[in-house]
Amino acid sequence: MRTQVAIIGAGPAGLLLGQLLYKAGIDNVIVERQTGDYVLGRIRAGVLEQVTMDLLKQAGVDARAKAEGLPHDGIELLFQGRRHRIDMHGLTGGKQVTVYGQTEVTRDLMAARAEAGLQTIYSASPVSLHDFDGERPRVRYEKDGATHEIECDFIAGCDGYHGVSRASVPADALHTYEKVYPFGWLGVLADVPPVSHELIYANTSRGFALCSMRSETRSRYYVQVPSDDKVENWSDEAFWNELRARLDPEARERLVTGTPLEKSIAPLRSFVAEPMRFGRLLLAGDAAHIVPPTGAKGLNLAAADVGYLSRALEIFYRGQSASALDRYSDLCLRRVWKAERFSWWFTSLMHRFPDTGEFGQKIQEAELDYLVHSHAASTSLAENYVGLPLEDF
Ligand code: APR
Ligand code: PHB
Repeated sequence: MRTQVAIIGAGPAGLLLGQLLYKAGIDNVIVERQTGDYVLGRIRAGVLEQVTMDLLKQAGVDARAKAEGLPHDGIELLFQGRRHRIDMHGLTGGKQVTVYGQTEVTRDLMAARAEAGLQTIYSASPVSLHDFDGERPRVRYEKDGATHEIECDFIAGCDGYHGVSRASVPADALHTYEKVYPFGWLGVLADVPPVSHELIYANTSRGFALCSMRSETRSRYYVQVPSDDKVENWSDEAFWNELRARLDPEARERLVTGTPLEKSIAPLRSFVAEPMRFGRLLLAGDAAHIVPPTGAKGLNLAAADVGYLSRALEIFYRGQSASALDRYSDLCLRRVWKAERFSWWFTSLMHRFPDTGEFGQKIQEAELDYLVHSHAASTSLAENYVGLPLEDF
């Protein structure tokens, strides 16, 4: 089989890249190790920056996100038992975010890919990458007991943190940066009305909590738990009681509980691999970087990466030049590190660390008090939360 771009991974990055390349007339094939249902079964975050919405529109798949997504103009910070609203819309000259689950983004991208008749090879494993340091890279994979090979011009490694793409790069060609946080997020998805119409980020002496949603009838809640905690340690009642204990009186009163559709613990990590290009192999999304979910940047960074990558490949195939591809890694990493900083800062501000103690809690509360009463500080939070603009090549 031959194609112009072989994409490894059918998560948001791979699917969005495939759609953007298709719209640009660039042939592509996606190789995914799981089934489509397995990919759709992943419950992930759900806040889309305008940059991501614009890329979904460019890919021709923004209709449902626009129709069903919830536009949000602000968030609330809860500390010392009181909520303070950050008016992101007002502070950023009218920008907003859209609350729309990553699962739905993936579903929309899968549907568009199928409608366009584009090839996605599911249940392909193992997958291996070859000769991407030359001009004729190849992808090899096993499926149904047979070995298959794809000849291509470029390989897009969109296969996430645990994927084969970054692992295929010689160790001395890669520099990684990592910070593992001493806690995780115990998350619950439930068909109960959200406690508030905007997201509530809570800093409490018991630890962090987040009240989010997927729709007017489906809520997403998180509480910080120790990194070695297990989901089986948490009954539904124990979760709801702990969430209540971390809310303000009004939210506690309004909280509607129910049997979770999903309950899981996610670890928190910051990670960046540099560079994001190795000859004809280009990394995008979680394959190249991970952020703690506090700033809701994971999906948005993946979208921005593939926005840059599809543009660079379009410039290359139009015979204009390879200069955009040469700039791909630097351009992505400039934005990635700003999002890493914001996500680290927001995580550090909102969570209780083993060494936070009473003094550390007072310092966090003082910073939050300054943040919500300073126009400059609130503006900084708002412009990072709604997302920084993409740069031109
Ligand atoms: N071969 C083929 N496919 C693979 C391999 C492999 N060796 N390893 C992983 N994959 C697939 C996974 O099954 C998954 O479907 O690659 C896909 C990677 O998708 P994600 O992990 O979702 O990463 P990405 O597309 O970059 O999206 C980032 O997803 O994980 C969240 O928080 C993250 O919101 C962010 C977004
Ligand atoms: C979510 O709705 O899952 C969500 C929202 C905001 C975050 C993280 C997760 O910062």
